[in-house]
Amino acid sequence: MSAAEAATWIASARSMVVLTGAGVSTESGIPDFRGPDGVWTRDPRAERLSNIGYYIADPSVRREAWQRRLDHPAWGAEPNAAHRALAALEVAGRLELLITQNIDGLHLAAGSSSERLVEIHGSIRESACLSCGDRRPMPETLDRVRAGDPDPACLACGGMLKSATVSFGQNLDPVLLARCDEASANCDFFLAIGTGLSVYPVARLPETALAAGARLVIVNAEPTPLDFEAHAVLRGRAGEILPALVEAVVGYRRGA
Ligand code: APR
Repeated sequence: MSAAEAATWIASARSMVVLTGAGVSTESGIPDFRGPDGVWTRDPRAERLSNIGYYIADPSVRREAWQRRLDHPAWGAEPNAAHRALAALEVAGRLELLITQNIDGLHLAAGSSSERLVEIHGSIRESACLSCGDRRPMPETLDRVRAGDPDPACLACGGMLKSATVSFGQNLDPVLLARCDEASANCDFFLAIGTGLSVYPVARLPETALAAGARLVIVNAEPTPLDFEAHAVLRGRAGEILPALVEAVVGYRRGA
């Protein structure tokens, strides 16, 4: 199937839900996790930094995590053509909900509205206290790390801080997850872009849409476990496929 053919499905969709993963941000310079150059692929030990158990138990894991937050590629990243195409799809009134597993904030930076965006794995833009929930802008907390505090404590209660992201072992926000479940169960078109569809419960969302009779289209550089159940798979780069899709649907011009 071509992007133009998939666009006819999008054009006739009553309610469209889009799910994005790390593959949407690689063309902005942020590596994914499990692709050929992924963070976990290159350094399996790095996955420990995203496990809440190790993070709470081991101060050296927290210190390393804060150092990596200082250098996170998201700080210097710009939205790419895929992010901008999805924002254009929303402006054209074609998007019911955009669910992203990404914590980089690039969908918001591209112009997607917070009303129709769920950052289901949280965001690196804030730090959060594991004890009292106090949240501060991440740059303020990183300034404390730069000033010499390797493992900053909560300014409100002295508790342990991490980024306001969901680590392995932490629960997703049940209200946000319920919103994603509800949108997926009521859509007639579900588009999964740049995600390996290997991490639950988010990977359940396209299955929920399929069970409700929706069409599923997957845009991904590599195979995913749901390819065989998808109505179409567009293999390739999101930064090329999405602008072509959106141009066919709403006459969107790249770079407009
Ligand atoms: N265009 C299309 N697909 C791409 C591109 C691209 N430019 N770059 C990479 N991909 C694909 C990869 O081939 C891979 O299949 O994107 C997919 C990204 O998969 P993962 O690295 O597993 O990332 P994701 O699915 O977002 O991971 C889900 O796992 O580690 C946790 O919390 C983390 O949110 C993340 C979750």
